[in-house]
Amino acid sequence: MAENDVTTPVTPAAPEAATQKRGIFDSLMGGLFNKKQQVSASTPGVTDKERAELLAAEKIYQQGLASIRDLISPSSMEIRYDMIRVDGLFAQTFYVFTYPRYLDMNWLSPLINFEVSMDIAQFIYPIDSATIMKVLKKKVTQMQSSIHMSQEKGKTRDPAIETALEDAEQLRTEIQRGQEKFFQFALYFTVYADDEKKIKNVAKQLESLLGGKLILTRRAQVQSEQGFNSTLPLCLDQLDVVRNMNTSPLSTTFPFTSSTLTSNEGILYGVNRHNDSLIIFDRFGLENANSVVFAKSGAGKSYAVKLEILRLMMIGTDVIIIDPENEYESLAQTVGGSYLRLSLNSDRRINPFDLPPPVAEEIIQPGDILRQNIISLLGLLKIMLGEMTPAEEGMLDKALIDVYSIKGITMDLLDPSTMTPPTMEDLYDILSTMEGATNLAQRLQKFTSGTYAGLFSKPTNVNLGTGLMVFCIRDLDESLRPIAMYIILNYIWSQVRRELKKRMLVIDEAWSIMQHGDSARFLFGLVKRARKYYLGITTITQDVEDFFKSEFGKPIITNSSMQLLLKQAPAAIDYLGQVFNLTEGEKYILLNSGVGQGLFFAGNKHAAIQIIASYGEDQIVTTNPEQILQRKQSEKQLMEGVTPPPVAPAETSAENVSVAPVAEVVPVETPAVAAMSVVVPPEVSVITPELASVPPVPTVASPSPSAN
Ligand SMILES: Nc1ncnc2c1ncn2[C@@H]1O[C@H](COP(=O)(O)OP(=O)(O)OP(=O)(O)O)[C@@H](O)[C@H]1O
Ligand SMILES: [Mg+2]
Repeated sequence: MAENDVTTPVTPAAPEAATQKRGIFDSLMGGLFNKKQQVSASTPGVTDKERAELLAAEKIYQQGLASIRDLISPSSMEIRYDMIRVDGLFAQTFYVFTYPRYLDMNWLSPLINFEVSMDIAQFIYPIDSATIMKVLKKKVTQMQSSIHMSQEKGKTRDPAIETALEDAEQLRTEIQRGQEKFFQFALYFTVYADDEKKIKNVAKQLESLLGGKLILTRRAQVQSEQGFNSTLPLCLDQLDVVRNMNTSPLSTTFPFTSSTLTSNEGILYGVNRHNDSLIIFDRFGLENANSVVFAKSGAGKSYAVKLEILRLMMIGTDVIIIDPENEYESLAQTVGGSYLRLSLNSDRRINPFDLPPPVAEEIIQPGDILRQNIISLLGLLKIMLGEMTPAEEGMLDKALIDVYSIKGITMDLLDPSTMTPPTMEDLYDILSTMEGATNLAQRLQKFTSGTYAGLFSKPTNVNLGTGLMVFCIRDLDESLRPIAMYIILNYIWSQVRRELKKRMLVIDEAWSIMQHGDSARFLFGLVKRARKYYLGITTITQDVEDFFKSEFGKPIITNSSMQLLLKQAPAAIDYLGQVFNLTEGEKYILLNSGVGQGLFFAGNKHAAIQIIASYGEDQIVTTNPEQILQRKQSEKQLMEGVTPPPVAPAETSAENVSVAPVAEVVPVETPAVAAMSVVVPPEVSVITPELASVPPVPTVASPSPSAN
């Protein structure tokens, strides 16, 4: 046992006496010496005296060499009565001395995830069942007789003894049946910190963390060296503080139970990097089906989500996407979805004044729908017109009520969706005749007859189809995007509420929505309410800071049960660490992940994930310019070489789709599928219309005449 405050310098390769004194390193190194000695000793034709001399000489020689021990040993080690200090690093050891009657599963996991450097050692000593049965029998007899004696003396019953007797009897039965075995269990923790104050803090936290679970610990005082040795990976239990435990409670001490995320339902998300199991999961089985995806640019966010879309569609989920980068076009083409390009000179419009019909199951009052829509229009107009004074807001509100009433839509209507709604132009007319609203009218003018005319001021002419629907807003000016996103989201929302159906809404580059308070609030409202309409919202963002700057960033995350974090930039990691409660280990994983690697959180389970795609899927979802170029070239070759150039309808040919000045809902029909099909070099393959609707797309050996 070490004395108080004794500094013991560890001298490299000390001579004989010291070698005997120290246990651990010697037992490691001793084997090495002995082997060498044996070799020289077994040399033939050498007398005993010569052998002794040889050994002595070899020993002297060995002492002069730098050994592994010299390399790994610290320059000093101070052993105090309650902690030890190794080269300036403090270490303090704790042992568990009592456990509660019941232990939860995985109770050790908060400690594993506790953000301090710590070594944990568990020693499990199996005890022979026959021996323990004898002891238990004796105990049971003692307890029974003390109960009898109390009864004879007329004392009140003692529940403590009765419980102990019950437990012992049950254990005896289970051991006899072979259901349980008996063990002795020792559990030690050694925590490390750079200074004494910190280690005291950590020690308190550790004690209260365990104390909260009624697992009581003590510091290994006056045994700090033994404590330290016991938690080194040497299988040396020098503390020897054991407690009895049978198999069931012992199994709860296994700390890694959250790593498997395989379930019977759902789709494949990737491979679990902890144990190579598959992460198969149904997001619609969680409390809500929302998810967030965070990663730096190029880490594979869109790729992961596209794979999810393909796989979710296979199990009958409709998907709606807001695509700011024109990334989802080939996906839409392949699965036969619709692609709606919104731009200033497009002829596709969504009128924000549209009123949805009442939802069948909901009980509403007359005017509810109109009121709801006026509120969301006010939100939209705030984004369009910028800051407003309270007086202006009041005027706008009145103008909105007036513009509806001109069309005969008033607050006493129950279902105003049958009437023709007004447009932005009507609102402009009203505002320009209102006293004091000239300023507002002027600001609105650019959306009705100015630069941005047409986009938001015409009746709706799009329809939310089934399957996959993509709204592309790439060709919109940066300043118009939040407005367009707001209108699209509002439109999607009213459509979603009409019919209950399993749906997913993907919002890529969501940080641009979060820049405006009103659109961020709107998105948060959607995320909160989506569950009731069987909708899962996936929010993808690369700009973590922008996302969290908004007061709605964090609530969106807390309302998303599924979270995918891929590779992160060092600048963002600390922030993200706070929001997601990441441990140092998890932060390390995120900083050092490759493309398509990261952390997957589903409810309170998490795992390190590797996202993998099949070859066919990869061809559809990749955004790698080289691969896309290659694919386009192969398509071109296919068009020119194998068949005469197809006379495809203007809106469905590949080139026309990409340069079309107007927005098109492209219902992907046969020629379009052929034109945009995934062509796999060098083996040319084409997707037939039948296959096009069945993702992931397998390849077909040669083009069929019908596909051309
Ligand atoms: N799991 C993966 N396996 C193979 N390649 C991948 C994987 N994930 C992504 N990639 C490739 O990495 C590149 C970037 O992926 P992706 O477009 O998904 O990035 P991103 O995170 O969405 O970037 P941005 O924020 O710029 O949109 C693409 O070329 C894609 O093909
Ligand atoms: Mg992307």
